[in-house]
Amino acid sequence: MMQPSGIITAIDVGTTKIFTLVAGVDDTGALEALGHGIVPCDGLSKGNIEDIVETQRAIRESVQEAQRQAGVQIKSAFVGITGTHISFENRRDVLDWVGSHGVITDRDISRIPETVANASKELGRKVLHALPISYSLDGEEGIKDPMGMHSNRLEVETHVVSGSSMAVDRLVRAVESASVKVDGVVLGSIASSESVLTPLERARGTAVIDIGGGTTDIIVYKGGTIAYSAVIPIGGYQFTNDICMTYNTTFEAAEEAKITQCSTEPDTVRPHEEITLPVLGRAAGLKVPRRDLCQLTRERAMELMRLIMITLKDADVTDFDNFRLVLTGGGSNMDGLEDMIKRTLTSNVRTAAPSGFMEIPLGLQQPEYATGFGILLWGATHSGTATATYSPINGNGPGNGRRSVAEGKVPVSAGGGRSRFFNPFRRGGR
Ligand SMILES: Nc1ncnc2c1ncn2[C@@H]1O[C@H](COP(=O)(O)OP(=O)(O)OP(=O)(O)O)[C@@H](O)[C@H]1O
Ligand SMILES: [Mg+2]
Repeated sequence: MMQPSGIITAIDVGTTKIFTLVAGVDDTGALEALGHGIVPCDGLSKGNIEDIVETQRAIRESVQEAQRQAGVQIKSAFVGITGTHISFENRRDVLDWVGSHGVITDRDISRIPETVANASKELGRKVLHALPISYSLDGEEGIKDPMGMHSNRLEVETHVVSGSSMAVDRLVRAVESASVKVDGVVLGSIASSESVLTPLERARGTAVIDIGGGTTDIIVYKGGTIAYSAVIPIGGYQFTNDICMTYNTTFEAAEEAKITQCSTEPDTVRPHEEITLPVLGRAAGLKVPRRDLCQLTRERAMELMRLIMITLKDADVTDFDNFRLVLTGGGSNMDGLEDMIKRTLTSNVRTAAPSGFMEIPLGLQQPEYATGFGILLWGATHSGTATATYSPINGNGPGNGRRSVAEGKVPVSAGGGRSRFFNPFRRGGR
């Protein structure tokens, strides 16, 4: 049993649930889950907070439950954000101040995300992450780590993630209403990728596809860094809603039927199997062939697949031989989905739950908890430095993009404090 020297908390504010996770960190940086709270929440639509009161309630209850289990008071937390208000751009900036003293230093590199974030500021938007992809030195392209090099002209290509200021503030206020200070805001899908990917997958090229309740979030890694991201406004909710609309049944019944009876493969179901769904405004239930339900599911899954393919094409992913898809999020539990992708898109696909960096409590070894654990991991790496604190209210200071800088050169750049957690994947085992 470890002796925690610090506490880190993650809150995943998802479209279907609020997931709070408290962990202790010991002197070696190892994480141990101490408690969690999972509370269904109806306050979001497509990842955006629409009912503030309902969201506040669910956050409060989720935090209280995690506190009760852990026996500690949660004073602050790292928080995940998603939603259709999130947008992304890849941009190039000339960094004329870098290397002015002859050689590019670690300190220069650590200042780059903030510089780029400031340069990409827009009215009404907040930069959440500025993640360097690669550098160009005096015209030489594609340099991953320019540390120690000489240059007269350094340019950086950066992946910048931003959200609507209103949505970010709303999220921060909702968390603060539970008397929890916000340590940092992280994009949910970046967090998910933290808890499910191996370093080899990042290096070779991988897309993390987080199929949530309200949205499907995609993050593409190329050459070890995030090169592309997108939010598709379709998630598990639409699958359930199709059943509701088609059979005029309740959301609860449709959700249960989806989870227990549906698959994307109608042919695997015997022709005469039927299930009974309650019908709104009628006493008698409706008998529905299970095959028909699966057919509905299949059509929705194919639509989602098409949108995923379009997104990957936009990300310049065309050669799947060396490129992997990693499915996560609650929607990735859908029976048959992984096989459908295997048959139509690529065999290089796996469905992932969080694993590899700490002991995950039994009930939480599921894809729907990837974001929560990823936020924890992201928080653990970022709480080690004084500059890591995000200050969303006064707006000075972008989110923290330093991690991506570290990513290209993980073992050396911790600068003493950044890598206090135990992550055998990332650091080649310990
Ligand atoms: N076995 C299953 N089969 C099909 N769908 C499932 C299964 N288990 C969970 N889901 C779906 O997963 C979705 C919830 O996933 P998750 O908890 O990852 O979403 P969220 O994080 O709350 O939402 P978002 O990330 O979109 O904001 C729901 O639509 C739920 O119906
Ligand atoms: Mg989610």
